[in-house]
Amino acid sequence: MEVPIINLSNPNEELVAHAVVKASQEWGIFQVVNHGIPSELIQRLKDVGKEFFELPETEKEVIAKPEDSTDVEGYRTRFTKDRDGRDAWVDHLFHRIWPPSRVSYRFWPKNPQEYREVNEEYASHIKKLSEKIMEWLSEGLGLRREALKEGLGGEAVEYLMKINYYPPYHGPDLVVGAPVHTDIGAVTFLVANEATGLQAFKDDHWIDTKCTTSGIIVIIGDQFQRMSNGKYKSAEHRATMDKEKTRMSWPVFVESSLDHEFGPLPELITGDDNAPKFKPFVYKDFKFSKLKKLPLD
Ligand code: SIN
Ligand code: FE2
Repeated sequence: MEVPIINLSNPNEELVAHAVVKASQEWGIFQVVNHGIPSELIQRLKDVGKEFFELPETEKEVIAKPEDSTDVEGYRTRFTKDRDGRDAWVDHLFHRIWPPSRVSYRFWPKNPQEYREVNEEYASHIKKLSEKIMEWLSEGLGLRREALKEGLGGEAVEYLMKINYYPPYHGPDLVVGAPVHTDIGAVTFLVANEATGLQAFKDDHWIDTKCTTSGIIVIIGDQFQRMSNGKYKSAEHRATMDKEKTRMSWPVFVESSLDHEFGPLPELITGDDNAPKFKPFVYKDFKFSKLKKLPLD
């Protein structure tokens, strides 16, 4: 069993769209290749991210998440205990990359210098890819191609970059850097370095995702599961740490703004056999409830 790989350069668009819809229903996670984002740009994105994370701690702390911040943006070192009680850690950086009105450059690394240019270029490519996928997913629901983007807030949809840095872990067997979860936003686009670690849970098994150097992993999140009234599946996944290598990943979370209300798209819940399976939520309340493990329905 393997996480589906979809070649977006296939000239038969209908076939591609069908594969994306099917993978989103059955897996909620898949890899796209030949997606039009230059491999060279993806490589530069990884290079500038790695350069930043290899700076001395004091230089990284310049863009630390402020103590009193209620937002996620900024650099953080997170110590956790592994199951034998030893320290393990995952460092990360969050910063929004779109829309421009929601970008705070104070949380973007100034070093290396090309960081900003590379991330801006990547943002415009990811937005294009994301909007294409949303169109296919909308049509897969029998709706107008703009339906999911509009339901998520249209031009106010936010793109949040995260960089995860998992140092080598010399412990007993498998150590989990990111415990099992589903992504809270609409959809996630992830690239990673050569160390494997991302796993999807399917039919009671953990499946490794083999992320190719220029492939992009697409993960359906809770918002699209709910907006599609359960037709698309938010994928359960986790990330393990490598014994020898530092693992890095760059997920971009596509999500609505915090004050946006989302739920099953009204067009999907007409007729008797289409009762809504989820209740509507303002996104910030949804995040809070999920974090606090409160009942969601
Ligand atoms: C995550 O899903 O939170 C992390 C994914 C990864 O590092 O590959
Ligand atoms: Fe995730």
